[in-house]
Amino acid sequence: MAYAPPNVFVIAAAAALLAGAGCSGNLRLPGAARGPAAPPESWAYPAADVVPVLASGGMVSTTDRIASEVGAEVIRRGGNAVDAAVATHFALAVVNPEAGNIGGGGFLVARMKDGTIAALDFREKAPRAATRDMYLDERGEVSERALIGHLAAGVPGSVAGMWEAHKRFGTLPWADLVQPAINLAEGIVVHARLARSLQSHVTELRRFPATAAVFLVDSQPPRVGDRLVQRDMAETLRRIARDGKDGFYRGRTAELVEEEMRRGGGIMTRDDLARYEAVWRDPIVFGYREHTVISMSPSSSGGITLAEILNVLEDFDLRRARYHSRDHVHVWTEAVKRAFADRNEYLADPDFVPQPTATLISDEYAARRGADIDLRRATPAARIQPGLGAAPLRSAGREGANTTHYSIVDGQGNAVAVTTTINSLYGNLVTVAGAGFLLNNEMDDFAARPGTPNQFGLVQGSANAIEPDKRMLSAMTPTIVLDPSGRVKLVTGSPGGPTIITTVAQMISNVVDFGMDAGAATAAPRLHHQHLPDTLYYERGGLRPEVADALRAMGHAVAERRGYQGDTQTIVVLPDGRLSGVADPRRGGAAVGVRLPR
Ligand code: DON
Repeated sequence: MAYAPPNVFVIAAAAALLAGAGCSGNLRLPGAARGPAAPPESWAYPAADVVPVLASGGMVSTTDRIASEVGAEVIRRGGNAVDAAVATHFALAVVNPEAGNIGGGGFLVARMKDGTIAALDFREKAPRAATRDMYLDERGEVSERALIGHLAAGVPGSVAGMWEAHKRFGTLPWADLVQPAINLAEGIVVHARLARSLQSHVTELRRFPATAAVFLVDSQPPRVGDRLVQRDMAETLRRIARDGKDGFYRGRTAELVEEEMRRGGGIMTRDDLARYEAVWRDPIVFGYREHTVISMSPSSSGGITLAEILNVLEDFDLRRARYHSRDHVHVWTEAVKRAFADRNEYLADPDFVPQPTATLISDEYAARRGADIDLRRATPAARIQPGLGAAPLRSAGREGANTTHYSIVDGQGNAVAVTTTINSLYGNLVTVAGAGFLLNNEMDDFAARPGTPNQFGLVQGSANAIEPDKRMLSAMTPTIVLDPSGRVKLVTGSPGGPTIITTVAQMISNVVDFGMDAGAATAAPRLHHQHLPDTLYYERGGLRPEVADALRAMGHAVAERRGYQGDTQTIVVLPDGRLSGVADPRRGGAAVGVRLPR
């Protein structure tokens, strides 16, 4: 949003005065004390423990140290941030198989040193034989097949995405960027994070023999220090290194995918693979308190929903609020509820459904959306209809988790943010026999039955219904923020299904509104709401009980999450040009810096 307050500010300001709040400039929150407040004692990640890595020659932050090292090494060898992203992506497919992938898809946002901005959509697509009701059982219920097994897989986009990004911006030879992943597939020493992940999903990994054959030995997960060899994956990567995109979408790899589908009752064909293309989109660009936010456009809902949240919040002077005070959390929640009501109704694959992008990210729309926020009480979700027309009332289910994000800035000032996923942990649990990679279960991100919650409890409308060749709506939000002088200031993103959007919104607000550094912004406890269910979630031990009670007294349903939210990989560019990188401690990982060459 532009910094000048829009007309509705007058309305909002009047409401605030009625509510007993003073007002000058932006809307002040009633009774709010200024500045950040320490999180409760119960909080697991004190800011002091999250110390950023500093470097001047480049920074790669991923959820796995090995993958970050691979990316950093590419920059040391003279590659740019996009080269590093390609190498990092393939490395993650090997060392972080629960989320990193070649069998899934994702989104890339870039801001190059010459000012070019770009958004690449390499989201999976429904196979051509997909039908609107393909997951409904005889009773009309959504069956498990949307999540587990061959039918759950969308046509993967990752390899096409990396190929396309490299074609446009890459500088080092493609094969050189795939080679580190080949080396890793030929054998890695299992580290604690991987061992833990495999251990905790052993039942799922046993479900399909080709998956068990890759990740288990005699049906047991490897232990820390064991060697994990992914021979078929190495072969597939070799074909990709040699033949580029065709090494995945045509020839031997495509044949193996089709054979796997035939064996397991899936519908994806070689033809689906051959026709897959990654697509350059116009990024979502909007202002937030004199900063410029560049984020992902549909088929991800991330950028538009982020814009609506922040545009509504911009009318409130959060900087005067104590962090995570009742008033801060209240206004934040109200903005998020309104944005998600719109997201769930309107957003979908833009190649199939016209997207009201310009309206939803406009100042005027945010002003109208925020005008009915009552500073004294929560608006029930049932009363928050999508802002461009009525929507039916629905109910919702539970939250879920798995995906990964990486952020890269090179020494020349090119910045790349990529979020990628196979959706659930270990995707649809099916490894393509002979090709050694896991497939996604992204089909569950469609509204398998519009109005019925998916695995993330998201209740989505018929705009996001299944159609052949369509991309399922995503929440992935790779984002780059420029400072008021137009320099890159923040590169961030996260996994977490719908919580991705609220996590990224909080990262931006933490830095821009509350002046936090990369470490404190990452460490701060996170909140989530998604309109339905009408519940504000906070991370375990992350909200003061008296604040939660005060919010309940305003009419919010407030619930503590069993675990933690997100896994941000963040780089902040400091005023002196140094890069400050942080990997979220919630899942582990590492930011790896590159020194300037002497
Ligand atoms: O595209 C989406 O929005 C989801 N498939 C992302 C899933 C996810 O983030 C799970 N991760 N923890």
